[in-house]
Amino acid sequence: MKIVVLGLVGVGRIGVMHANNIAGLRDVLHRRGVDLQLRLTDVAADHARTIAAGLGAEFFPSAAAMLASGLDGLIIATGTATHPELIRAGVTAGIPVFCEKPVAMNVAESLPVLDFIRDNRGVVQIGHQRRFDVGYLEARRAFLAGELGWIHSLRAVTCDMAPPPVEFLATSGGLFRDCSVHDFDIVRWLTGREIVEVYAKGSNRGHPAIGGVGDVDTALALITLDDGTVGTVSASRYNGAGHDVRLEIQGSDNSVLVGLDDKTALVSAESGVSFPGGRPHQTFAERFDQAYRSEMAAFVELILGERSNPCTPEDAVAASVVADAAQESLATGAPVQVGVSVLS
Ligand SMILES: NC(=O)c1ccc[n+]([C@@H]2O[C@H](COP(=O)([O-])OP(=O)(O)OC[C@H]3O[C@@H](n4cnc5c(N)ncnc54)[C@H](O)[C@@H]3O)[C@@H](O)[C@H]2O)c1
Repeated sequence: MKIVVLGLVGVGRIGVMHANNIAGLRDVLHRRGVDLQLRLTDVAADHARTIAAGLGAEFFPSAAAMLASGLDGLIIATGTATHPELIRAGVTAGIPVFCEKPVAMNVAESLPVLDFIRDNRGVVQIGHQRRFDVGYLEARRAFLAGELGWIHSLRAVTCDMAPPPVEFLATSGGLFRDCSVHDFDIVRWLTGREIVEVYAKGSNRGHPAIGGVGDVDTALALITLDDGTVGTVSASRYNGAGHDVRLEIQGSDNSVLVGLDDKTALVSAESGVSFPGGRPHQTFAERFDQAYRSEMAAFVELILGERSNPCTPEDAVAASVVADAAQESLATGAPVQVGVSVLS
């Protein structure tokens, strides 16, 4: 039996979910001759001990102690500001790293991390889980197969049902960097085109504390791709109907809508139409349950040398370049040309 030891740093909102998903992978990997073991740590030690005990994982008092124990892969699910230091620690230990998006607070802080990873031949997978969602995968397949023709309009939507804690928002980098960065990534991944211009507007009609930490609760960016395709990327923290993530792609031959199912957080205004009639998704964890599981399975396959990296740090930073430009446009009120050339 081959033993694979994963170390997870940070068991907050998303870290707990990854820990549960790793525990859920154990049986299937066991049948493939792999014994998957989990070690974890968090500065909130009591909380982490409880999570570890519930999952049969081993608690460590610090990331350094956990790395020193000998790991096969490191998973980083701490707040964004800590990502660069922990990525460097994982790469220095010579093991594959999975890090939640984004690589760092902004592009300027991400570029030295990219250099470090490249110079040390690090393997780092970034957590853009939509690349594993069956809907986005099918839309990409349809587009690449030519079934949509050429795209005339893109509309990406990411809405939380309620805002995360204001303490999280204060360190998140802003709505475009925290939320819409997923849409910027998926538009690049799906179309294979670069976003060359963004023009953003935002508003604060919810709790004043969000404006108090310099963020907006709702925003929209008009995007232009390098082939002239236009689209919108919008996000809100106040979508009472449910957690709503969609991508509408309208093409010259056909159109697809990712995220349209029985749990879509919308009510039809048409008479006699009861679809969608299910309980809408409430959280990102529900909406992307399958994608997060597949993403973690992919990281184990990456460790085992069975696949290539599904989301490189360069890809993730390219999306962050767009997010930074959108934050700049929001602040200045003017369209911003996107400088993806910083990565070349
Ligand atoms: N891919 C996605 O869909 C998605 C969704 C949510 C959050 N995220 C990303 O995940 C990251 C974490 O977000 P969250 O909402 O879970 O945050 P959170 O604040 O709920 O959790 C972070 C956890 O890390 C711990 N921590 C912080 N610094 C630490 C350190 N140096 N060592 C050990 N533990 C430490 C905290 O105590 C906390 O438990 C962020 O970068 C965020 O952008 C991604």
